[in-house]
Amino acid sequence: MTQNTLTKRLSDYQPYPFELEMVRLDFRLDPDATQVRARMAMRPLRAASALELDGEGLVLRKIAVDGRVLAASEYTQSDTGLVIHAAALPAQTFTLETEVEIAPAANTALEGLYMSNGMYCTQCEAEGFRKITYYPDRPDVMARFHVTVAGDAPVLLSNGNPVAQETGRAEWVDPWPKPAYLFALVAGDLVAHSGSFTTMSGREVALNIWVRKGDETRCAFALEALKRSMTWDEQVYGREYDLDIFNIVAVDDFNMGAMENKGLNIFNSKWVLASPETATDSDYERIEGIIAHEYFHNWTGNRITCRDWFQLCLKEGLTVYRDQSFTADMRLGPVKRIEDVSALRARQFREDRGPLSHPPRPDHYKEINNFYTATVYEKGAEIVGMLRQLVGPQGYRDALDLYFERHDGQACTIEDWLKVFEDSSGRDLRQFKHWYTDAGTPRLQVSDDFKDGTYTLEFTQKTDQTPGQGDKPARHIPIAVGLLSDTGADLIETKILEMTEPRQSFVFEGLSQRPVPSILRGFSAPVVLEFDTGHPPDSAFLLAHDSDPFNRWEAGRRLALQTVVAMAQGGAADPSYVAAIGALIKDGAADPAFCALCLALPSEDQIAQALHEAGKSPDPVAIHRAREALATALANAHEDALSALYDAMAVSGPYRPDPEPAGQRSLRLAALALLRRIDGGARAQALFDAADNMTESLAALGQVVAAGVGEAALATFRDRWQGDRLVMDKWFAIQLTASAPDQALSRAEKLVQDPLFDWKNPNRFRSLMSGFAANHAGFHRVDGAGYRFYADWLLRLDPLNPQVAARMSTAFETWARYDLTRQSLMRAELARIAQTEGLSRDLSEMSARMLG
Ligand code: PHE
Ligand code: ZN
Repeated sequence: MTQNTLTKRLSDYQPYPFELEMVRLDFRLDPDATQVRARMAMRPLRAASALELDGEGLVLRKIAVDGRVLAASEYTQSDTGLVIHAAALPAQTFTLETEVEIAPAANTALEGLYMSNGMYCTQCEAEGFRKITYYPDRPDVMARFHVTVAGDAPVLLSNGNPVAQETGRAEWVDPWPKPAYLFALVAGDLVAHSGSFTTMSGREVALNIWVRKGDETRCAFALEALKRSMTWDEQVYGREYDLDIFNIVAVDDFNMGAMENKGLNIFNSKWVLASPETATDSDYERIEGIIAHEYFHNWTGNRITCRDWFQLCLKEGLTVYRDQSFTADMRLGPVKRIEDVSALRARQFREDRGPLSHPPRPDHYKEINNFYTATVYEKGAEIVGMLRQLVGPQGYRDALDLYFERHDGQACTIEDWLKVFEDSSGRDLRQFKHWYTDAGTPRLQVSDDFKDGTYTLEFTQKTDQTPGQGDKPARHIPIAVGLLSDTGADLIETKILEMTEPRQSFVFEGLSQRPVPSILRGFSAPVVLEFDTGHPPDSAFLLAHDSDPFNRWEAGRRLALQTVVAMAQGGAADPSYVAAIGALIKDGAADPAFCALCLALPSEDQIAQALHEAGKSPDPVAIHRAREALATALANAHEDALSALYDAMAVSGPYRPDPEPAGQRSLRLAALALLRRIDGGARAQALFDAADNMTESLAALGQVVAAGVGEAALATFRDRWQGDRLVMDKWFAIQLTASAPDQALSRAEKLVQDPLFDWKNPNRFRSLMSGFAANHAGFHRVDGAGYRFYADWLLRLDPLNPQVAARMSTAFETWARYDLTRQSLMRAELARIAQTEGLSRDLSEMSARMLG
């Protein structure tokens, strides 16, 4: 099979046979014909090696070694690169010079050098540098970069420190060796929102956020978030910034969230720009988290990078863990943990249950861009969190100190990372390593027993087979457990039980009463917890009394899922759940953000997943009805209390994005969502008319749309915001997510005709298409028209932007959950995609994996 030859394997790793000491890059910018000259000082590490360089879509103008232009017979060119034959190369250090031409204006894939609104920018991770020049485009080849940019744009930026600036020309030197994926160049008519930061050793760093004219008024929050990130990394990890300048650039056309290029982070403008009128509370929180994430990469990713792309979670899992900890410190820790676990379940557990399941460290791939997944990122972060629990806070800090000391300036592996923990803690982590190498979410079953003052918890773990991986050995699982008395007092405070066997018991002695167990506190491991039916925990009791906030919320979620799953199969709302929510609403004001999370019902997608896990085939229409019915039952039962809460949580004074007022707004809007089921959207309409901030305006808009009375509000919103691309993205998305399922497709079909639907812009495309796919029952229409619409658009986007098309194809990853009709409809669309002539490598790998 030719397909297999395209598969890259971890086991094939070979070090690069040359050392690249230094690279000089000279750019002469032009939209259609940019000239790139590269001069590389290469030192052979092995005798008589050919020199392999990656390169795609480049027009080669010149190639010379030590000034001697090579004859055509001295090298071989292909679609993917260039090989200089060993005989053409000196045995000692030599200079390789190339000149190529590229066309940034024609680059629609947004990888390599491309243009966005007249501005030049780059995206090189993972393998985009090869679209800029011939180069060993692999993360273990690190070099010092000296870059000259010539062009008309007033602002010319690259990595490192500026060494010369004049009209039409700028020169940048990055003193720190780096892999090519961290290279960046930006040129455009930009303005800066600037500031400065003094590091812990007293060095001044200039900070700039570069944006299009007019956007500079929306940068203040991001700049302050950057300063908070810099301070936090010094205080918590002892890590200081290492250049004289730190630049962030906002671009409107970007495939991902943001990118950690050394000293020159490039951001999707969505995750930088914020003002109260245009950004929601959750946007503010995400902006702060993403600014931190990219900044933290400077140490975890840039100074210590990955040996190869199989090790991606080395930098991503750790950096996500760091940004989650940062946000937990800046805001409300337990609330942040609940949000992170919810996202993990919604994205990573979903992925792990389906055909795309893969280990956090995969061992083969065809297209690395397809592995920027929830498993690599979010599960990667959970693994770091488990390590911290196993070695304790001080042990974790010691291990990280050793990691930075031992590996600074290197390109590392997961083995290096685990060895640091083993050496600093003295622990054996061989079994723990399965978290990195094995796919699948372990299911943890628990049963208990109480006799003569002795309480026993027995756990059984099992990880299902996943694509390409059969039976799996037991994992090393940290299980945080506390025991409560029947009045809710702590009998035994949180303890970490370390499970290492397939089946294992833990004994607690000297108890005067049968305790209520609180298991997996703080979600101490990314597993699915299942209770033996003999003695299920009293979820209502835990929701009221658990001293662990995560497990309080978890108990509420368990109750909600149980009752909504029963309702989807014809049952009625569980009165004990309705009563428990009533109790919560009564003292909701005491902890608004937490209470808001408890009032949010599980999403329809999560309900479908729960049904599937219980061995039932989910009916999307029944799920939608059941969830609406449960919300209606809660609203009817607690109308007065919800209404009082809605009024009480109104925030006075000017908008601030801080956690306290944001928490109040979130509770207010959770109450609004429930009340909408019985007031016909009246409160939402009033709020929409009065709101002075995007958080309330957008939530209210969603509720009037969901109530079926949103047309006027949608038109008003569009009129007001049609000139604002970020706000219009929200407009496209919300009317699809909130709409009645039977109207979602016709709305989507109408919206693709809207002149503002610029489908080549990734944010706009995602807003519409992901908004539609998030309308669970609308996407999963039984006639398959939703699937067809979605697949048509993926196929339309693929030739232009394969990365985004491939990522969005994961809307189909859940096909195995559903009834045979929907299964075959979804598979038929995947097969149609897979068979399309000229399909990208990205989408071809994804469709093939999903078909299994
Ligand atoms: N490395 C980026 C991050 O995690 C994500 C990214 C990957 C961006 C690939 C662009 C391309 O912050
Ligand atoms: Zn990252």
